[in-house]
Amino acid sequence: MTVLVTGGAGFIGQHLARRLVAAGADVLALDLLLPQVHADPDRAVEAFPGRVAVGDVADEAAWGDLPGGIEAVVHLAAETGTGQSMYEVERYHRVNVEGTRLAAGFAAARGLPLLSLSSRAVYGEGRYGCPEHGTTFGGRCCGRAAPAASREDDPHHPVSVYGETKSLAEAAAVEAAAGAVPLTVVRPQNVVGPGQALHNPYTGVLAAFLAMLREGRALTVYGDGHQTRDLVHVSDLVALLAWALEHQPPPGEPRILNCGSGVRTTLVELAEAAISGAPVRSPGVTHVDVHRAGDIDHACADLDRLRELGAPEPRWGAHDAVADFIRRSWDRPGAGAAAWDAALDELARRGLTS
Ligand code: UD1
Repeated sequence: MTVLVTGGAGFIGQHLARRLVAAGADVLALDLLLPQVHADPDRAVEAFPGRVAVGDVADEAAWGDLPGGIEAVVHLAAETGTGQSMYEVERYHRVNVEGTRLAAGFAAARGLPLLSLSSRAVYGEGRYGCPEHGTTFGGRCCGRAAPAASREDDPHHPVSVYGETKSLAEAAAVEAAAGAVPLTVVRPQNVVGPGQALHNPYTGVLAAFLAMLREGRALTVYGDGHQTRDLVHVSDLVALLAWALEHQPPPGEPRILNCGSGVRTTLVELAEAAISGAPVRSPGVTHVDVHRAGDIDHACADLDRLRELGAPEPRWGAHDAVADFIRRSWDRPGAGAAAWDAALDELARRGLTS
């Protein structure tokens, strides 16, 4: 089988491509090799175990130039920085929404199954359970409410432009592809693993923690550190994607799948896990009293649907995944911690922190 992987030269794409090739597939990447993600684009191309077509998923011409023989489309290419999305609004809409619409149109026109990556950002603050008010979505109804795991049929309540674009992209995929070809949409939680872009200050907290650990700096935890995330190891995400490619839903019945570990971990615990993976002593954690526009407090995936379908369940827990990421990334080139300070300053300058 020949699989087109958009964004294939990136973190998740490289892992997926290696897995598919090991199972006997051919892979072709459509990737723009953006400098924000790829400090060394040539190396990314060399590492990809197939051909890389350089092109922009939001540019119709890039799709027209693709060769024949493609049998399935995995659409990973996206702009992924939550904070950055709050001021690069047009760019995020163009790449994430228009790019997905074109990917789905391409799949539908060629009769190919489509697997499209969304994000848990569509849930925003997600589901809460309260002894007084019952289940609510998108925020805490009162002090007695506790965060609960989000389910695939929960309503969308994005709080960032990034989340909005992922929600609109899902709708675009359904509109363009679902009637014609099998469509699966996967919503990963926070993905961790070796190969993450360490130069990009918009990829998330763990690359920031790595940079700070390497410089002997205390890890900056924004707020009290009681925010929670669901960390999923990239190998668990890729196992689910490979399974979804083999087990397609019927056309006209789009399938949405959460992807996470199903376990909630606080930011302070994540910082401790990162520290435990570092080969040097860390000065620990320092709390910074800041809130970034678009940030959510809590996220966790409900995995019941995966279990019902017999899809592979996650094998990694957050602590081991984070410690392993730090260990394996320690000697790899990456940006200094100042890049994350600059990204936060940029948000503050634009009035996007409080
Ligand atoms: C992340 C991804 C996003 C992805 C989503 C779901 C970004 C940058 N990354 O979003 O692409 O779709 O997961 O998988 O959007 N924090 C600190 N100190 C720091 C940096 C961050 O305490 O130095 C805090 C943040 O305030 C937040 C938490 O860590 O509470 C996680 O932040 P981050 O990883 O940047 O973003 P996510 O919203 O989890």
